[in-house]
Amino acid sequence: MPNPLYRKHIISIPDFTREELELVVQTAAQLKASPRSDLLKDRLLATCFFEPSTRTRLSFETAVQRLGGNVIGFADGANTSAKKGETLADTVRIISSYTDAIIMRHPKEGAARVASEFSTVPIINGGDGANQHPSQTLLDLFTLQETQGRLDNLTVAFVGDLKYGRTVHSLAQALSLFGAKFYFVGPEALAMPDYLCEELDERGISYSIAATIEEVIPHIDILYMTRVQRERFDEAEYKKIQGQFVLRADMLRSARPNMKILHPLPRVDEITTDVDATPHAYYFEQAKNGVYARQALLSLVLNETV
Ligand code: CP
Repeated sequence: MPNPLYRKHIISIPDFTREELELVVQTAAQLKASPRSDLLKDRLLATCFFEPSTRTRLSFETAVQRLGGNVIGFADGANTSAKKGETLADTVRIISSYTDAIIMRHPKEGAARVASEFSTVPIINGGDGANQHPSQTLLDLFTLQETQGRLDNLTVAFVGDLKYGRTVHSLAQALSLFGAKFYFVGPEALAMPDYLCEELDERGISYSIAATIEEVIPHIDILYMTRVQRERFDEAEYKKIQGQFVLRADMLRSARPNMKILHPLPRVDEITTDVDATPHAYYFEQAKNGVYARQALLSLVLNETV
């Protein structure tokens, strides 16, 4: 029987079942422990990035090449015929006729879903505006399993830009399938969107809003820091909010021994560099796990069995 992700578009975390998320996490762990170099042999993938990226694009490209596949693509939509007015639908129709899957990042919410309607091959959403970042969530889940030994019943504080932070949206939705408890810490203007709070309410997930990072630190397994998404709103508003929620090493004295700090990166000023040397910092390992989680995802989407 083919695995349940075979030939699927990967657009949004609510499209996944708990079992599918666990399958990707288990496959990532296997690929980290026992690397493979053949799972994407003779496959050609496209990375189409209409918005800047360091980790997502390069870890996907690393994943493909380490699994024996090849990559074409672009890192800047301004260098494509989109600049001449070509629609996303036509761009996707063409690239899907060249390749076996398309990994796409786009500034517009819903762009990956639209692309999936015109593509003849799987679309992998590498981030669509402030909406979703499912492959980041897969690497986050893998990192939670690796550091905590489980995904069930974790207590997680999300700090920073909860309104525009697509990694927060995707991860909160995923963890709601595993019985998590959340704290939300951030500027009022960047609070978690109502639709997500309503989803958590419907699933019986407990969450509370906290005023400071310090007050949640003794109670949590994971401190998930995020940067304020400057590119998504007005510069004057950004200046008012910037630097309000900053984590320093001296704030970690009351942390549980197992507590790990994650951040999707890039960081700007929300984690001071003295935190990097503490046993709680895990964000660079998390970014490295992106290669294994993305290897797992691509292998499952492009092979009936792995
Ligand atoms: N975490 C993440 O999406 O990083 P990039 O923007 O560098 O891809």
